[in-house]
Formats: sequence, structure tokens, C-alpha cells
Amino acid sequence: MNSSELRKKFLDYFEKNGHTVVPSSSLIPKDSSLLFTTAGMQQFKEYYLGKPSPFGENVCSVQKCIRTTDIDEVGDNTHLTFFEMLGNFSFGGYFKEEAIKYAHDFALNEISLPKERVYITYFKGDDEIPEDVDSKKIWQELGIAEENIFGFGRDDNFWGPTGDEGPCGPTTEIHYDLTGMPCGENCAPNCDCGRFVEIWNIVFNEFYKNKEGKFLKLERSGIDTGMGFERLLTILQNKNSVYETDVFLPIIEKLEDISNLKYNDFIKEFRIISDHIKASCFIIADGVLPSNVDRGYVLRRLIRRSIRFARNLKLEKNFFVPICEVIKNIYEKVYPEIGRNFNDILTVLEKESYKFNKTLEKGLKEFEKLILKGEFTGKHTFYLYETFGFPFELTRELLKEKNINISDEEFKKEFEKHKEISRAGAEKKFGGHGLKLGSPEIRVKDESEIQKVTRLHTATHLLHAALRKILGEKVRQMGSDITAERLRFDFSFDRKLTPEEIKKVEDLVNQKIKEGIDVIREEMPYEKAIKQGALAFFKEKYPDIVSVYSIGDFSKELCGGPHVKNTKEVGKFKIIKQESIGANIKRIKAVVE
Ligand code: SER
Repeated sequence: MNSSELRKKFLDYFEKNGHTVVPSSSLIPKDSSLLFTTAGMQQFKEYYLGKPSPFGENVCSVQKCIRTTDIDEVGDNTHLTFFEMLGNFSFGGYFKEEAIKYAHDFALNEISLPKERVYITYFKGDDEIPEDVDSKKIWQELGIAEENIFGFGRDDNFWGPTGDEGPCGPTTEIHYDLTGMPCGENCAPNCDCGRFVEIWNIVFNEFYKNKEGKFLKLERSGIDTGMGFERLLTILQNKNSVYETDVFLPIIEKLEDISNLKYNDFIKEFRIISDHIKASCFIIADGVLPSNVDRGYVLRRLIRRSIRFARNLKLEKNFFVPICEVIKNIYEKVYPEIGRNFNDILTVLEKESYKFNKTLEKGLKEFEKLILKGEFTGKHTFYLYETFGFPFELTRELLKEKNINISDEEFKKEFEKHKEISRAGAEKKFGGHGLKLGSPEIRVKDESEIQKVTRLHTATHLLHAALRKILGEKVRQMGSDITAERLRFDFSFDRKLTPEEIKKVEDLVNQKIKEGIDVIREEMPYEKAIKQGALAFFKEKYPDIVSVYSIGDFSKELCGGPHVKNTKEVGKFKIIKQESIGANIKRIKAVVE
């Protein structure tokens, strides 16, 4: 059974049994206490709490998810940072008995897992919450042998909540016996010998855990289930690992092709690169850009990690382009955002890789120097991270090669310190507006600098609009940085501009300045702004009501400001430099006088 057939089989089965099929939600959850969507239930969280579901009481989905807590495990047979989750859910429609019957029927009859390989776990109870005797009984009545059913505690058979608070409850899980070979007398589900793999988690949402950590009984109980799609594919396709299923094999084969190396000789590298590039594609497609905080940092880490492992295979700098093509082929029918945003995906990867490769060489030299000096501490790892963008684990691995060990504690301490510093940086306010994604990075010292960067900021909008008028609408902003001296604007475009084009752009901006057009700020719902043609950089983090700056009918952009009141205040605009920072990204530096 291939991946498309399995998705369809799952959704068809539950649709036939009275569930509404709901599309996967974005990887960026509505709940701002969470970085990424990590489970199918997240988009339904409110319906467990009483809000009526527009989809009815019973729903099912195939949800794309990102989990990075196990990032160090990626490369083994089962762990991934991007994966899909098959799930059926009920908000007061049905409960334990039906949920277990559906899971049993689907697993044993629809996809015909051999009964003797199917093991069950359930919640055995603790001081606060009693044993789930009902689940055990239901499984037994369905014919699961008692010796295949095991009770576990809070760590294994209790789920949630996601985020600071929310619905949660005891679970029952299906585990699959991959090998039929116990490692010892006590070998059972949850044993880490590799015999068992957990495939389906069925959560009985009976409680609401509040911020104080109290469990309150929910008014209506709910069902939340999650089945690991890639793990199930591995079993159904008779493979040894998720990387050999049809959602990975074409990527692995492409990597063999472009590296002239064999997967079996470089398993770790092949797996990490495939997983990380795939996860990056999906994260970018949902509107995240690399940065030093939160989601952007996760993305940056995934990209940089894949580049580092690509170096072990001596891959070309643009190795990700053919890999992304393959990823697009695998997924675009199921997740059209991958096709729709494909150019953005390539451009963001290209830009990040340009940046990282540039500093990697310098950083490696610096690393060697520090080693020669003889002393290496957590501080140095931080210095390499901050100055050269070296992920901590890169430094740790480089040190290992030199037989130098540095404790995890030291790393952690420096990392925590760093996180605080960068958070504080991100929260720094400017002109009453937080630094928002899509707004340029602005650094200022005093009032006169604020005036200068405000003029440069409006000039940036004029430049963006002029580039699109002269070069076409495929020009898109990819980054912006303003200091008191100059503006710097990165945009997607596949060749250098001719001197004539540069002149035309400059003239058009100056003409708009001369026309003395008022710069108008309005607030409106995000959807309305987009409908009116306002340029939005990337959609992540835009609130429901957005601020839009218009310059006549020449320019309209979602932006946090600040801007001048009339274009006349900008002064004379001059492009001082054009650079190519990647095959698809160009950079312009300009000043105003
Ligand atoms: N929320 C549960 C999980 O993620 C079941 O979907 O495992």
C-alpha cells in the first residue's frame, strides 16, 4: 500500500463511519504558547471545551506535524522532525467503546495487521486518577489476549495538554511487534530494544488541566487519536525504517544520485538531510523564516544541520534544489502549499545556505585557532554560535574529533543565556511598534537616527513597488535591513539588473518622492488587506487586524511602520550597490540625501 492509498483508506473508513474529513491545519498553531503543530487534535482544541464544532461532533484528518524534541534521535529507524498523523476525533459524539472498536476494526480488518503482533497498553491508575478498567475490558472482549495487554502509568499512558493548559486524559495505545523476538523476560511494549513500535494513541479527553496544574473534569468527554503515518507505512511496506518507505525513498535515491555515494555507507547523513530538508520545506511553506528566536531558530537549526551533514557527503552548495524538487513531487498533491510556495522555499533555503556557508569557513578557521590556544569552554562555543552561527552540536562534534569533551551542562547554560538575550532583542520596541516579521530590522541610537531610518523605511516601500513595476510581479521582498546610513533590500529575482533597469527604478522612486504623495496608515482585517492587494511578506504571526501603509495607488504593504507622512520628506533616493547573494536573490543598497 503506498502513502496515498493509506491516507485515503484511513479517511474513507472514518467518513463511512460518520466522520467529517477536515484538512490538515497549518504547522503554525493558533495557540501562541506553542511553537508548532505537534498533533492532530490541536486545531480542534476548543471543541473539546464546549465551543460548537462547525464540522460536527466526529471528525478525522491527516495532519502534518513538527516535533523537534527528539531531533537528536533523527537518523534512527523511527524518529522524524516532520511527520503526518492520522486521527479520528469526537467532541461528545462517542467515547471509549466506539473509539476502541474503530481502532481495532481498522488495524485488524482494514489494514490486516496480524493479531498476534498487536499489543495494547492502557492506564493502570495512580493516586489522582483511577485505573482505566473499561479499556482493558473492551480490548479483551474484542479478542485481544490478556498477555498482549499491559498497564502503564502517567509517563506512558496519559496525554496532554499541549501548551500551558487544555484537555487531557488517560490513553490506550496500540503497539506493534516488529521482530517477534523478546530481548529478555520482561520485554514488553515501551521496551527500548527495538522490538516494539507505538503506532496508535487513543486519548480519552476527560479532564482539563488548568494553569495551576489542577485536573478538572470536562463537561463532555472527547476522543483524540493519533496514528504515526510513516511508522504504519514502514510496517505495511515491509521495510526496516521510515526512510525506506515511499515518502522518503525517492529523496534517498536522489541523494545517492547527486553524491555518488551509497545510502548504506552514510545512513546517518542521508537520513538527517532528508528529514531536515523536508521539515524545512514545510515550515517555510507555512510562512516561517530563519531567525535566532522561536520558530525561526528551529528552522535555522534544521537548515544548518542539513548543510553540515551535506558537507560530509561533499555535496554542492545548492544540493537542496534537486532534493526539494523530489519533495515537491512526493507531496504537492496532498499539500498544495509546497507547490504554491516552491520558489519561496528555494529562495529562503538559498539565502540561509549562502549565509551559513560564508561564515562556516571563517568559523572553522577561528575554531582551529582557539584549539591551538589550548583552552575551550562553554563561552567559546557561545562565541562561535553568536559570531559564526555555529550550532552548539557542531562545535561539540568538532571538539569530539579532537578528543575534547565539553559537558552538556556548560552548553545548556550558555544556550539559556543566549535565548534570554535574543528574546529581549526581539521584544525591543521601536516607534511604538514591536519588530514584526516582514518589517525591516532597524537599529537606531537617537532621535535624528529615528528620522533618518523613517525616511529610509518609506524609501524601501517605494523601492519595492518600483522593482515590481519595472521587473514584474515575481519580485518579492526576501529581507530588509535599515541603519541610519542606508537601506538594504533583498528580493527574489533570477538575474542581475542592467544599469538601465537600475536607473529606471531609481527614477521611478524619485518621481514618486517628487509627487509628494501622502503616506496613509489604516487598520483592517488581514483578509481584507490581502484582497485589496496589500503586499504581505510571509503570513506567519500577522494578527487578525493588521496595519497597512499605502502610498497613493503606487504601494500598499502590511507593515508596522513607522513612515514619513508625505513622500516629499524622503529626499533624494540613490541606489549605491547591487549584489547577487544567490541564484535567485538579489540585494540592493540605497541611500537618501
Ligand atoms: N494527541 C495525541 C498524540 O499526539 C493523540 O492524537 O499522540
